[in-house]
Amino acid sequence: MEARWVVRPGPPLSGCVRVSGATKNAGLKQMAAALLVPGVTVLRNIPPVADLDVMIDLLRAIGAEVEWGGPEELRIDATGPLWPEAPYELVSRMRASINVLGPLLARCGEARVAMPGGDNIGSRKLDMHFRGLEAMGAELEVVHGFIEARTNVLAGARVVLEFPSVGATENLLTAAVLAKGQTVIENAAREPEITDLAAFLNRTGARVIGAGTSTIEVEGVDELVPVESELMGDRVEAGTLLMACGMAGGEISVEGTRLEHLEMVVLKLAEMGMRVSPTPDGLWARAEGRLDAVDVATLPYPGFPTDFMPMAVSVLSVADGTAIVTENVFDNRFTFVDELNRMGADVRTEGRHAVVRGVPRLSGAPVRALDVRAGAALVLAGLAADGETTVFDCHHVARGYVDLPGKLRALGADVEAVPAG
Ligand code: EPU
Repeated sequence: MEARWVVRPGPPLSGCVRVSGATKNAGLKQMAAALLVPGVTVLRNIPPVADLDVMIDLLRAIGAEVEWGGPEELRIDATGPLWPEAPYELVSRMRASINVLGPLLARCGEARVAMPGGDNIGSRKLDMHFRGLEAMGAELEVVHGFIEARTNVLAGARVVLEFPSVGATENLLTAAVLAKGQTVIENAAREPEITDLAAFLNRTGARVIGAGTSTIEVEGVDELVPVESELMGDRVEAGTLLMACGMAGGEISVEGTRLEHLEMVVLKLAEMGMRVSPTPDGLWARAEGRLDAVDVATLPYPGFPTDFMPMAVSVLSVADGTAIVTENVFDNRFTFVDELNRMGADVRTEGRHAVVRGVPRLSGAPVRALDVRAGAALVLAGLAADGETTVFDCHHVARGYVDLPGKLRALGADVEAVPAG
């Protein structure tokens, strides 16, 4: 496990990198969904990140056999028998563990899943997961820190989500594919990772239409069949590299991603003065001189994604002018700002808002990664800072990114991972 990453300012970025598969935000969900399928599911383009090991341990604890079939290929045999329990030690290490709830209820008729706590970015409630599954006939209660869920028969239902929650949409979708009759999820999350999950489910024989829109319709089927499937490219990694270009200047190409997955991010970077255009297999970007400040407000997809907010604050911290950044999705995602201010940024927060007054240059400092995207934001800040920036606790960043220092080095940045010990 890397203990710290050291970032030094370098020349403008140049070159081309290919993004990795979206293991954290798409792959972990499809691994959980593989529990629905008796037989061997093969997932490709699923490179290892730290959270993947936790999901492997969880699936094995439940009774699936999980093996690597190649460097980025996982084989998950969920023939069973399955023990529908997600222990606290694993759930507390990774929130996406909650994604086994829907598949276990659908496949086994019961599930016992440790309640994930809050985390560094907010309280992260599960009420919509509960209400949706209850509408489908499940009984749920929280007993001694565990969600205990059971059902005689899951029945299709119409569920209106109060907010387009990614996790609730995924749990309801994966429960609905084996339910009796039709389920309609209204105000569903529209993130590309949901579309990727639905495409995977449909390959296994599920009948899902409307994924990627606010209304998802699922016609329950009796059984799913094992398939081989390939994950989408990681849009957050792609956007992180574009923002790195915004920080350091230069001209780069990012392959393995799609403009439509990053439209709002690209729109904002263009408003700041960057040039970004699609290429046959990705995006090309150029940044020259100081960028302009623009206001940013996060919203569910296709709005400006909350996962990019910390990086946007880094980019704006050295932009020309003052920007207001509003976080509408999580209730506590600005804690990293204190770390950025230690590097000479001028960012003040008040509740859901941050006022970012651009300074010409940051100053390298030792800082701490508080979560995966906040850590990435500090690495980017180091690209526009004089002297050396050491980002501690980079294991948080490694939870979601495949070798971010290596990808940045491939573009000419000076970023070194210093191993622990
Ligand atoms: N919420 C509720 N009740 C619920 C469910 C959600 O109030 O029943 C609230 C949450 O508390 C939060 C908001 O709704 O304030 C959004 O939560 P959502 O369920 O959409 O998020 P999530 O599924 O917990 C996933 C990603 C996050 C990403 C969000 C939003 C994974 C493993 N996590 O979380 O990714 O920020 O969607 O796009 O896919 C990250 O990659 O850094 C990350 C945190």
